[in-house]
Amino acid sequence: FRRLRVALLGAGAVGSQVAHLLRTHADELADRAGAALDLVGIAVRDVDAPRDVELPRELLTTDADQLIVGADIVIELTGGIEPARSRILEALNSGADVVTANKALVATHGPELFEAADQVGATVSYEAAVAGAIPIIRPLRDSLAGDRVHRIMGIVNGTTNYILDRMDREGSDFAEVLADAQALGYAEADPTADVDGFDAAQKAAILASLAFHTAVPLDAVHREGITAIDAQTIAAARGAGYVIKLLAVCERVADGDGEAISVRVYPALVPREHPLANVRGANNAVFVQAEAAGDLMFYGAGAGGIQTASAVLGDVVSAARRHIAGGTGVGESTRANLPILPVGRVQTRY
Ligand code: HSE
Repeated sequence: FRRLRVALLGAGAVGSQVAHLLRTHADELADRAGAALDLVGIAVRDVDAPRDVELPRELLTTDADQLIVGADIVIELTGGIEPARSRILEALNSGADVVTANKALVATHGPELFEAADQVGATVSYEAAVAGAIPIIRPLRDSLAGDRVHRIMGIVNGTTNYILDRMDREGSDFAEVLADAQALGYAEADPTADVDGFDAAQKAAILASLAFHTAVPLDAVHREGITAIDAQTIAAARGAGYVIKLLAVCERVADGDGEAISVRVYPALVPREHPLANVRGANNAVFVQAEAAGDLMFYGAGAGGIQTASAVLGDVVSAARRHIAGGTGVGESTRANLPILPVGRVQTRY
């Protein structure tokens, strides 16, 4: 029976749950992966920091570089660009498969990481980077690889959906519900990442890149947040039969004789009878319109430690299966390189 060495970088809300599940579900995960997944260490900034779940002290280390050496699978859950990027490259170059939830890094340096992985026959998996627990990366990359996606409309930020939902249902003020969302632990450390749409824009760039087989740079994503939405605007929308949702809209549009793509994050008017109108609280949903498949909707928890840990562990099991089969990774196809349309030439109501 094979044993694989798993190194975990980061023990925050998601990382501590991943460590806990790897240990408590070890037998079941080994059966599914075809190899024991031995958690050999957890790199943290401060070994004495309080954690959501208790972790064995002997696994904690502040030396991430040392931990990466000899690992078969490296799980990166530290967030941010550096040192996460360098560590992922280091892990790939030492022969490990990488699993990450780092949306900022995938959105800005995805092509570099995928190229590095391809060169060594390893993989970078990031199911947890978009919409928490919801399976959406693999459906777009694999299940829909034979179809042609026309449009994605996603509610991909739990914090803003929680805020807009409560404002809609209770007529509450923006500031009051933001404080509650922060207390519930959905918000990013800096809440402007949520309410100004930066978090959703990163996720939109990732979804559009996958759906349209191209590399959408983050600065090509039009971005508006929800800070200007007040109780009156919500009431007026309600009166007209709409609900306001922060949507990530990624779509193919006509561009002269050819085709382009448009990627935008903005507070949109969604008709009350649309499935996206009924996405409550901190949940996320991704509505996909494809040529052959028609309309599909992926719905569930978009944030939260244990929920997001589910997506991370799914990637770990897949990486383990590939690793023991000696298989090489699934390359990210970025060959289409469709032009990206300027904002304002596409419809804004759905
Ligand atoms: N702050 C993010 C959200 C967490 O509210 O959706 C998940 O990426």
